[in-house]
Amino acid sequence: MQRDVEGIRDCAADRARIRKAPENFLGAEEIAAVRSGRRDFLRGALLAAAAAVGGGRAAAAESASQGEDVILKPQPWSTSLGQPVAATPYGMPSKYENTLLRRQSPGLTQVAAASVSFMPLQGMFGIITPSGLHFERHHQGWQDIDPSRHRFMINGSSPEFIRKPKVYTMDDLMRFPSVSRMHFIECGANTGMEWGNVAVPTVQYTHGMLSCSEYTGVPLRTLLEDCGADFKKAKFVLAEGADGSSMTRTIPIELVLSGEVLVAYGQNGEMLRPENGYPLRLVVPGVQGVSWVKWLRRVKLGDMPWATKDEAVHYIDLMPDGQHRQYTSIQEAKSVITSPSGGQMLLDKGFYNVTGLAWSGRGKIKRVDVSFDGGVNWVEANLQGPVLSKCLTRFNAPWNWDGKPAILQSRAMDETGFVQPTYGQLREARGRRSIYHNNAIQSWKVVESGDVSNVQVL
Ligand code: MTE
Repeated sequence: MQRDVEGIRDCAADRARIRKAPENFLGAEEIAAVRSGRRDFLRGALLAAAAAVGGGRAAAAESASQGEDVILKPQPWSTSLGQPVAATPYGMPSKYENTLLRRQSPGLTQVAAASVSFMPLQGMFGIITPSGLHFERHHQGWQDIDPSRHRFMINGSSPEFIRKPKVYTMDDLMRFPSVSRMHFIECGANTGMEWGNVAVPTVQYTHGMLSCSEYTGVPLRTLLEDCGADFKKAKFVLAEGADGSSMTRTIPIELVLSGEVLVAYGQNGEMLRPENGYPLRLVVPGVQGVSWVKWLRRVKLGDMPWATKDEAVHYIDLMPDGQHRQYTSIQEAKSVITSPSGGQMLLDKGFYNVTGLAWSGRGKIKRVDVSFDGGVNWVEANLQGPVLSKCLTRFNAPWNWDGKPAILQSRAMDETGFVQPTYGQLREARGRRSIYHNNAIQSWKVVESGDVSNVQVL
């Protein structure tokens, strides 16, 4: 049953998209099935998948009694020689897993190099995002920088902030003691379309500017100490990227002194991917993605925020009184049910493992509640370990669908006691004209046909 649901994810999620450009994603038979509104194709494919992995003797006996070849007859994979080791020196996913892809939203304007791709969280397990599916947000395209030609500089806007400004090579940086930590990164614009009550069809597009990795690097504090930084005088650092966008972000020194901010070169056990800042990026746990400066080339110390172009124009919040809140940086507690979610379809009544992700920029997730009736009643979900600070936490809640309409929601609470708001509460505090920092409760409507879609509940 579980596999059954997993399988639906991508076929069904794609259905929402193929209305615009079917040829790009499915074969002729599938396109015809979708155009005619036929669901047999999907059902057939999914039932076969369920039979293959459905688990245990019962499923096998059932299949055998139905005379399925896959059980009764030797299959090619049991009777032929397999591929040799290292046939693919860098391993790739199975060819049968080719629908789980990062995608660009059909609803957003595409500007070739200054765009965003969304992570397919509807099809993921656990909390780690495979590096090849990590979301991307570039303001001026990505670069694959030769690490032997990359340099990282630490200096100050005045000599009083730092005694020994330095320029490091990658080799220099990798000789420092390193740490590895798991953290989420979320773009401040994640879930931005929903402010305007635009019903983005799938969770990939509502919440896919989110990823979670294990990062390896050197605490920025260690490097600042190496340069003789004066932490009594320096109050802020400015991080600068080497790409054409000249991305710069101000970060308060307290965050750096906590030891959490990393000058990172590693991601999920290997070097960073070029799209994610190879060979060096800043990791600023709990803070919105724009501050995680990629292709990091410089950190400058100073005593006031710089208010650079990336801080004055983007990622600011237009408040109800007409003022801009400029330095929102911590990503507040948030959660979303990833399956069942928009664009998917429940094939039958009965048991579903409702699963999703929760996170908070202020620490650990303490609790997640799930509702099946649009927030009237709530049950506590099971948090799946590990539950780490400023990291994604997976939650699960058992649900028996009776075939009637339902509205699924999740509500996160973090260790500070902050509770994820409803849309009504969020709009009351923040008005209706924001784009960024939307952490409201997401609702998925299930109708009798089993179709799941995005709705807003105040
Ligand atoms: N750093 C540089 N140098 N250039 C950029 O365009 N984009 C920022 C941030 N760091 C950006 C950058 C934004 S807006 C986000 S959300 C994150 O990188 C995205 O990181 P990712 O592409 O690794 O997911």
